[in-house]
Amino acid sequence: MKPTILLLVLLSMTAAALSASISTPAVDRVIDKSDISGIMAKGSADTNKTDASEAISKANADSKTPLLYGDIKAPSTKNAVLCTSSTCRWPKYDRYVYVPVAISSQYTPTEQDIIIRALLTFHQSTCIRFVWRTTHRDYLYFFSGDGCWSLLGRQTGGQYVSLKKAGCLFQSTVQHEVLHALGFHHEQVRSDRDQYVQILYQNILSGQESNFQKTATNNLGTPYDFNSVMHYNKYAFSKNGQPTILAKSNPNLDFGRATNLSANDIARVNRLYQC
Ligand SMILES: *[C@@H]1O[C@H](CO)[C@@H](O)[C@H](O)[C@H]1NC(C)=O
Ligand SMILES: *[C@@H]1O[C@H](CO)[C@@H](O)[C@H](O)[C@H]1NC(C)=O
Repeated sequence: MKPTILLLVLLSMTAAALSASISTPAVDRVIDKSDISGIMAKGSADTNKTDASEAISKANADSKTPLLYGDIKAPSTKNAVLCTSSTCRWPKYDRYVYVPVAISSQYTPTEQDIIIRALLTFHQSTCIRFVWRTTHRDYLYFFSGDGCWSLLGRQTGGQYVSLKKAGCLFQSTVQHEVLHALGFHHEQVRSDRDQYVQILYQNILSGQESNFQKTATNNLGTPYDFNSVMHYNKYAFSKNGQPTILAKSNPNLDFGRATNLSANDIARVNRLYQC
């Protein structure tokens, strides 16, 4: 073998070894800052300052999609909503969990930026890496549906995440719906919630009581968190302006106003996915 050919063979072997260690298809491209168009939305400061709970309940008030717990789309297979099995998680390759995504062209570049920036907040603090979907079977498809909603955990095939243009394009709402798709439930339905909150059923809109049903969640050793982006606010689904959820430690506490992932939201992602 001529030395140049030998060198080429060695180089390509090194490249193969490197790509094997990443072990994600070479076609995957991790979303990064270069995907942001940079055209600032009018009133864009609000996109980071709006809390998820309030925005979601407003946007879903007249949604026709069958929803559980306010914004979780009912799965077509029964019982899947618990999402406790490992098939509910996105697969991990080496150090990272690659989640393929596609964003509907219904959105303007400015609207797409809001979604992309929110996805990048997960890259900053967790081992989740959103990649552009090419031929992947399972992926998240962000589109402007009739409210803010998501399925719970990974599903088979293209999985719709609805982020209505008017009402759901905020950092917190995108993070909230993405956390559902990653397998997380609302904070106030946690298995241990009765130690921390009291549900005032007499103030809940008739027919909405099931949104407060306690669930067998895996809390991953994290404390109950009133600042979670997954916590509904004190007046969620109120029929009379009176609180529906009270903090047992302090009935005057106002909560469910998170505009960004909390430290516990981040810790839970990192523990579930063993980052
Ligand atoms: C909103 O937050 C994102 C992510 O933290 C940041 O990149 C962006 O500059 C913020 N936008 C505004 C208008 O403050
Ligand atoms: C959101 O939280 C992250 C990590 O905790 C932080 O780096 C970022 O500055 C926050 N962004 C906004 C817009 O609050």
